[in-house]
Amino acid sequence: MAEPITHKVTVITDDQTLTLEVSDGANLRQALLAAGLSPHGKLSRRVNCGGRGLCATCGVWIEGQQPAPQHWHDRIGAALGYPRLSCQIAVHAPLTVRLVPGKIMWGKPERARRYRHTNQTGSAH
Ligand code: FES
Repeated sequence: MAEPITHKVTVITDDQTLTLEVSDGANLRQALLAAGLSPHGKLSRRVNCGGRGLCATCGVWIEGQQPAPQHWHDRIGAALGYPRLSCQIAVHAPLTVRLVPGKIMWGKPERARRYRHTNQTGSAH
């Protein structure tokens, strides 16, 4: 029987760096919550959409290689420098995730993190 495929997810918080072993295809938000590492801010821990991609409060910074944006919010967020919605990321490769420090609801955009995602042919979308 084949071994289940897992990926290392490195999580950087204000005061520590942890490594999680996450099943291939796992939802990033669920993996973070299961490890006790909420991607939500102080207020949105209690009030959020439960991972349906509606509230935008589960944003995290992805360091290094970015999974391709799948959700409309992430495509716009990438261009404006907003964090990625962790509930819309399925883990299919090793990732390094930085929780947004001091977040209350959404967190602020960072201009230096803006990018235009390009597909395999090099065209932006
Ligand atoms: S939990 Fe609401 S958008 Fe991710």
